Amino acid sequence: MAHLMSFLIAFSLIAFAPFCLCDKAKDGHLYPQFYDHSCPKAQQIVKSVVAKAVAKETRMAASLLRLHFHDCFVKGCDASLLLDSSGTIISEKRSNPNRNSARGFEVLDEIKSALEKECPQTVSCADLLALAARDSTVLTGGPSWEVPLGRRDSRDASLSGSNNNIPAPNNTFQTILTKFKLKGLDVVDLVALSGSHTIGDSRCTSFRQRLYNQSGNGQPDNTLDKSYAAQLRPRCPRSGGDQNLFFLDFVSPTKFDNAYYKNILASKGLLNSDQVLLTKNEASMELVKKYAENNKLFFKQFAKSMIKMGNITPLTGSKGEIRKHCRKVNK
Ligand code: HEM
Ligand SMILES: *[C@@H]1O[C@H](CO)[C@@H](O)[C@H](O)[C@H]1NC(C)=O
Ligand SMILES: *[C@@H]1O[C@H](CO)[C@@H](O)[C@H](O)[C@H]1NC(C)=O
Repeated sequence: MAHLMSFLIAFSLIAFAPFCLCDKAKDGHLYPQFYDHSCPKAQQIVKSVVAKAVAKETRMAASLLRLHFHDCFVKGCDASLLLDSSGTIISEKRSNPNRNSARGFEVLDEIKSALEKECPQTVSCADLLALAARDSTVLTGGPSWEVPLGRRDSRDASLSGSNNNIPAPNNTFQTILTKFKLKGLDVVDLVALSGSHTIGDSRCTSFRQRLYNQSGNGQPDNTLDKSYAAQLRPRCPRSGGDQNLFFLDFVSPTKFDNAYYKNILASKGLLNSDQVLLTKNEASMELVKKYAENNKLFFKQFAKSMIKMGNITPLTGSKGEIRKHCRKVNK
């Protein structure tokens, strides 16, 4: 009897093992080789279009990196962000975090059309975002990582999700951490991923409050360096100039490095959400100090946290679809 049992167990392990392997893609699990057979050139195509766009305008690297974040925090990494308004869909591009701010959509259109030529309806827009974010990081001098793939695209968008789930620059540390935790990310991910602000720009409207009236007492933010604040005010006046652009990392604005953390230690984080990483929480403070001191450690954790963020509730298997155009659902 015991022999028969162990035979049956061994037999079923061998017999069903291939099915388990085949189901790898269908059990919600992403993996880097997903397009190796269906579209072997996919990664190369994405990289070449991103490289061209970043060569034309360095900031595009930052803009593309941010899009992946704004996608993943709303219903998971499903390219819901890329849908334009149409029919019942109200575009996330209209939300507070995205309006007059999120950019780079034309580059994704270009990547998608190149991919549709090479292998029609095979590579999802959600995966394009993940790959473009990685390529953008590498192109500006940051770490590289293998991007797990196999996400599918949503058939709807969530404007309210975009307004509520993406942290705002004037949210408290606790609110920001809570928004990360709701997505399965922790304080280590929060501090490492905020390091994205080592590249790219912010509008005056995203940090003005700090320059003039931080707590409603008519005083500037006392965690903001006074001479840095004085440099910011001329182009970010009390009123007007909302859309004026400022480097998030004034020391090395186009280079992906750990200067962002050094700036924070010098009270020169541009956004309130940057500076609170140092001033409001012990664990977060320790991490800011560590990454300021050790670029290698920052790079390693950044790559890890990007993969984690990229894994937020993807659509897999037969859920969702592979869009033909990133801006609209298939008919
Ligand atoms: C921790 C909470 C975060 C807050 C409150 C926040 C907020 C902001 C704000 C207000 C801007 C400037 C937008 C504007 O004024 O137009 C910005 C830009 C940017 N953010 Fe974040 N962010 C956060 C986390 C992240 C994460 C996790 C990433 C990527 C993984 C990221 C990537 C970027 C990049 C690259 C830019 C520059 C974009 C460009 O130049 O086009 N941010 N962020
Ligand atoms: C944060 O900024 C938004 C948009 O400018 C504003 O409506 C809101 O009152 C601010 N919240 C706090 C707590 O200052
Ligand atoms: C600062 O903000 C508070 C609350 O929003 C407002 O009542 C006050 O008038 C503002 N003060 C100045 C000097 O702008």
